[in-house]
Amino acid sequence: MSKPNQPNTINPPSGNLERKPVRIDPRVPWLADTRRMLSPMSGVTDRPFRDICRPFGVDMGFCEFASASGLMFDSEATWRLVDTDGEEGRVGIQIFGADPEHMATAARLLNKKHMDVLDINFGCPAKKVVKKCGGSALLADLPLLEKIMHAVIDASEAPVTAKIRTGWDEASVNCNEVGLLLQEAGLPWVTIHGRTKAQKYRGEANWDHIADLVETLDIPVIGNGDVVDGESYRRMVQHTRCHGVMIGRGAIGHPWIFEQMRAVDENLPDPVIDFSEMCRVTIQHILGEVALRGPRTGCYVVRKHIAKCFKGYPGAAHLRRRLFNTEDADEMIAILSEAAAAGDPRVGLSAPDSDGEQK
Ligand SMILES: Cc1cc2nc3c(=O)[nH]c(=O)nc-3n(C[C@H](O)[C@H](O)[C@H](O)COP(=O)(O)O)c2cc1C
Repeated sequence: MSKPNQPNTINPPSGNLERKPVRIDPRVPWLADTRRMLSPMSGVTDRPFRDICRPFGVDMGFCEFASASGLMFDSEATWRLVDTDGEEGRVGIQIFGADPEHMATAARLLNKKHMDVLDINFGCPAKKVVKKCGGSALLADLPLLEKIMHAVIDASEAPVTAKIRTGWDEASVNCNEVGLLLQEAGLPWVTIHGRTKAQKYRGEANWDHIADLVETLDIPVIGNGDVVDGESYRRMVQHTRCHGVMIGRGAIGHPWIFEQMRAVDENLPDPVIDFSEMCRVTIQHILGEVALRGPRTGCYVVRKHIAKCFKGYPGAAHLRRRLFNTEDADEMIAILSEAAAAGDPRVGLSAPDSDGEQK
């Protein structure tokens, strides 16, 4: 059943930063106040990590992308990626694929899941996705992109959104054209990562292209790319007037970024992030991952967050080394508890921190 483009209300600019007034789709009235989103990130934004980010001010989190074929062929591992049962707060599921039938089947199967929106991935640059014409490859095949979009809209009971890149490469930037197609199809918003497929994650995200898309569309645009703290959040919104911002790598090992963004939105001073709290949140993360994946894999998954955590604290490298030297969750928790109690990462270090140590 195709979803008609229902009448929309105009959302006036709100908050401390000036944003472009946009049409809010009545199916998602909460979008009016939704400013801070956690990106879908494969291998990162699992349930324990989404739960950790939420208290810091995330308005909406996304699951890691899930292959439509994996869902259709009932892969247990793929279904685990979309575990949202009983999840508090707003959550989106994202699917990718190049076959409209598979995508529609996946959307129908997902109708039984708890979610606020079903997002389509039109931005993944990974070889294994692009070679099958999924993800960002669809930015170079708009007829297929449209087929997929309509198949998913027809099959999904949840509103359908999409995440795009600026285009295939710098010579074929087409995000405005794609955005208009998506708006015309009735999507309540579009998220754009300001890089081309060819850039992958290199170079800088082009915020001018995001600003162009914001001006082109009447629906909200969620900007994405290179926001790493409150200050860069402010700069992206000022530069693009986007409705909201999605955070990817900036949240790895740093869920406090959402608190920094909230402070910008509420015109409050930049929050001070307490070291002992960092330890406590990391412990909570370890416990969540261990419950989900077992002790060994659970510890490994948290390592990529620890590698980016505690930045700027003298002795951070020492603490990370201690944590990386063990595969035992209880030992990691004991190390973090000790550091939290001391309020200092240098605990257990015999000599003062050497000058050359990486923070
Ligand atoms: C490890 C990793 C996994 C990612 N997985 C996904 C994904 O599953 N779906 C998606 O749309 N984008 C994915 N992305 C892209 C991010 O969502 C985001 O668009 C990109 O990292 C740019 O934003 P950032 O500068 O805030 O990181 C991934 C990025 C990284 C680094």
